[in-house]
Amino acid sequence: MNRRNFIKVVGAGTVAMVALPHVTGLGDGVELGELRPALDQSDIRMLLLSYAMLAPNPHNTQAWKVHLMDKNTLRLFVDETRLLPETDPIYRQIHVGQGCFIENLVIAATQFSIRAEVEYFPQGSYDNQSLANLPVADIRLVADESVTPSPLFKLLTTRQSNKTVYGKTPLPTETLAQLTSAIAMAGFGLDMIDAPSQRQQMEQFLVKAMEIEESKSTRTLETISMFRFNDEEFQQYRDGFGLPQNGINGIKRVIAESFFLSRESAEKDPVAFGKESVKTVKKVVLDNPHYALLISDDNSRLSQVKAGRMYCRLNLVASRLGVSIHPMSQILQEYEAMLPLQAEFKRAYGVAKSQTVQMLFRVGKADPTPPAPRRDANDIVVA
Ligand SMILES: Cc1cc2nc3c(=O)[nH]c(=O)nc-3n(C[C@H](O)[C@H](O)[C@H](O)COP(=O)(O)O)c2cc1C
Repeated sequence: MNRRNFIKVVGAGTVAMVALPHVTGLGDGVELGELRPALDQSDIRMLLLSYAMLAPNPHNTQAWKVHLMDKNTLRLFVDETRLLPETDPIYRQIHVGQGCFIENLVIAATQFSIRAEVEYFPQGSYDNQSLANLPVADIRLVADESVTPSPLFKLLTTRQSNKTVYGKTPLPTETLAQLTSAIAMAGFGLDMIDAPSQRQQMEQFLVKAMEIEESKSTRTLETISMFRFNDEEFQQYRDGFGLPQNGINGIKRVIAESFFLSRESAEKDPVAFGKESVKTVKKVVLDNPHYALLISDDNSRLSQVKAGRMYCRLNLVASRLGVSIHPMSQILQEYEAMLPLQAEFKRAYGVAKSQTVQMLFRVGKADPTPPAPRRDANDIVVA
C-alpha cells in the first residue's frame, strides 16, 4: 500500500479486513499502561520518583537524572544524553520538563505525609543559553503528619497530553476560571485565547510554525528519533510517543504500522513524515475552542523550572475538570528560522519582547488516549 492509499484508508475511517488476514485479531497491541514506572516500591524515594516520572516532558525524552544523596534527599539533574538540540537549542523546554517532574514529586509526597522541600539550583544557576553540569534542585523529604494530601494526587497516573481533535463547543466560563486560577504566582500569567479572530490567527501561526519546523530534515529527524513506530519500539525504549498518543488505535494503527509507517521509510524520506505533521496540525487547530499562553516575565532557568511546575499543576487541574490540554511548542522554539514568526506571534497577542511564552497549548474536550510510556525509576538513578 502506498502512502496515498494509507491516508485514504485512515482518513475514511473504514477498512477492508479482507486485505489484512495476518493482522485480524490484533487490538491496540502492547498494553501501554504496563510500560509505566512500578508503583509498588518499598523505598519511598523510589516511589516518589516513579510518580514524578509520570510528568509531562518534551517529546517524552524523560531527561531526568537523580542522585540519591541520603535517605531523605534527592538531587535532580538534566540528563544531558536526552536533549533535543535541534528544536530546543537553548534547553528551555528541557528545564520546563524539570519543573513538571518536581511538581509531580511534591504532590505525590503529600499523599505519604511528606513535605518535599525544594531548593532550586543548590550549587548556583547557569545562564539560559547553556547547560552546566549542576543540579537543578535538591528535594528534601521531611516527614510531617500535618501535611494535607493533595486532591491532585489521584490524577498523577491518568493525566495526559491529549493530542487528538477537540470538540468545537467552548468550555463553560466557570471551568475556564477554575483552570486559570491554578496559575497564580508573581512574574507569571496565563492568557486564554478564545475570540474567533484570535483563534483563526492562531491556527495560521501554528500551521506556519510547523511548516518552518519541518522545512529542515535534521529537525524532522529529531522528532522521528523519538517517534515509536511499533510495540517493539515502545517496549524497548519506554519513551517517546507514537500513533496511539495521537488517537490512532485499533485497526487503523495496525494498518498504518503494517503498511506505511516504519522507521526505515521515515528516515529515508523525512520530508514525507514532516508533511504528515503539518497535516496533523491543520486538523487539530481547525475549530479548536481555546488556546492558552503561559507567560513569564523573565526567562531565567529558575523561571523555566517554575513555569514547568505551574504547567504541570494546570494539566492536573484540567484532568480533574475533565478538560484536555495539548502543548504546541513549535512557534516558541529558539532556532534561527523560527524567530521572525515568533516575534510576529508575540506582537499579535500582546506579549512584550522581554517576556517569554513558556507554554502554548490547546484546551478543550476529547476522549482520553492510551498513556505515553515511561521507563522505571531505576533507570534515572545515578551514582
Ligand atoms: C515543555 C514541553 C513541550 C511540549 N511540546 C509539545 C509539542 O510541541 N507537541 C506535542 O504534541 N506535545 C508536546 N508536549 C507534550 C509531550 O509530548 C508529553 O508530555 C509527553 O509525550 C508525555 O506524554 P504525557 O504528557 O501524555 O504523559 C510538551 C511537553 C512539555 C513539558
